[in-house]
Formats: sequence, C-alpha cells, structure tokens
Amino acid sequence: MTKKLSINGIKKAKNERLLTMITAYDALFATLLEESADMILVGDSLNMSFNGKADTLSATLDQMIYHTNAVCRGAKNTFVICDMPFGTYNNAEQALENAIRVYQETPADAVKIEGGKDKAAMIKNLTDNGIAVCGHIGLLPQSVRGEGGYIVRGKSPHDIELLIEDAEAIEDAGAFCIVIEGVKAEAAALIAQAVNVPIIGIGAGSGVDGQVLVFSDMLGLFEAFTPKFVKKYLDGASLVKEAVASYKSEVESKTFPANEHTY
Ligand code: KIV
Repeated sequence: MTKKLSINGIKKAKNERLLTMITAYDALFATLLEESADMILVGDSLNMSFNGKADTLSATLDQMIYHTNAVCRGAKNTFVICDMPFGTYNNAEQALENAIRVYQETPADAVKIEGGKDKAAMIKNLTDNGIAVCGHIGLLPQSVRGEGGYIVRGKSPHDIELLIEDAEAIEDAGAFCIVIEGVKAEAAALIAQAVNVPIIGIGAGSGVDGQVLVFSDMLGLFEAFTPKFVKKYLDGASLVKEAVASYKSEVESKTFPANEHTY
C-alpha cells in the first residue's frame, strides 16, 4: 500500500506526476478506491448520486460530517477532503466555525470550498487558522440555481483571464490544490501553468495536474444522466442488475441457498 500523501507531497507532485482524485461517500467504497486514489473527496455530489436529489444544494454539514467519518474509517491511509456544502461558508466567520466542526468531528485532512477571488479572504482566514483548503473554480455546482444552469467556463480570453485571477488569488490565500470544473481544455492548461499548486480537473481536459471523477459516474452506477466528461470504466449498473436478477431467479427456483450456504 502506498503511503498517505501529505500537503507538501501533494504540492510537490506538480510537475513530477499526475494526481488521481476520486469521490467516495461511504467506508465500503472508500476501502475499494483507496488503493489507487491519491486523494478521496467526500463531495457534496453525494446529494445527487447517493441521495437522489436534483442538485447539491440541500446537502447539510451534518450529512457531510457523517459521510466523511465513514470514508475516513474505510480509507485510513488516504488523504481525505470534505466538501463544505452550500450555505455553510457565507462569510469568513461562518466558514471558520464550520470548518473547525469538520476538523473536530472528523479526521478529514482538508476542506473544499467553491469560489474564486471572492473567496480568497475567507480561504486565507481558514489557512491562517490551521485548516487546509482545496479550492474549486470554473463551473461551480453550488451556483447552479443562481446562474440558471451548469455553464462551461473559459470560452473567451476575458473569461480565461478571470479564471487565472481566481486561481492566483486562491493560491496566494494558501490553498494547497485547486479543483477546476467544466472549463475548456486550453483555458484549464493555461490556468495550470499560471499557479504553483496542483490543478485537479473535472471536465477540464488533460493539460492539468490531475483528474477527479465521481466514483458512481466512473463505475457506471449512476444512470440518471452522464456528463460529457465522464468515462465509464465499468458498466456497474448492468452488472448489479444482472446479479440481482440471478439472485431472484435462484430464490424462485430454490437453487439458492444450496447446501454450501446452509447450516
Ligand atoms: O461534489 C463533488 O463531487 C465535487 C467534484 C465534482 C469535484 O465537487
């Protein structure tokens, strides 16, 4: 088993090797994923794939703390990041109070916050107070209702400039890495070149310092919709359905339980 990465190890990986981040929401999957993951993100995407909601906005801090504890129990040797859910970091004081709750009530290594320049002072306040912060810029899922949809960024030189300013501001504030979501590949590559911390892409092409995917998307378990940037490495939904159909058929034919499953 590889050694758990430190903040410095994550920063050092930039320009040395590409980082693999994946989401997890429970101990069972965290244990399965940790062998290959450099970092596990307990994303508020759990509100959609795990909880069946239409967006991430109704995830609560209590839920994130519950799932983060489960993931940390399952992946004791992996760097774990807890996503701060919508409405828990509206100002610097609230962000610090809630991030302290994450640190005191879970063994998470870091928190993640959506936003760019507008969140730089807040991130500085967190990092000054001993909290490790992963930034998140580009398409911000927590802004989906405010912006009226999921809007791909980095399509114009002006927007690329804004995104570079976001990344630089967050880096200056002390973030140790930055997730960049839903950004044109050429723009994301320029952003990765502009800062010294790793830029972890999702829907941002290959010119960045690592990738993150939602585990239920990449295992083909989530069927409601598949974003363009998702590659399914397994047809998980079909495999699960086939297995359960076999079980049903064996229950009905009394083939299960067989002698070896019987006391
Ligand atoms: O909540 C989440 O899973 C995320 C990833 C999409 C980066 O924020």
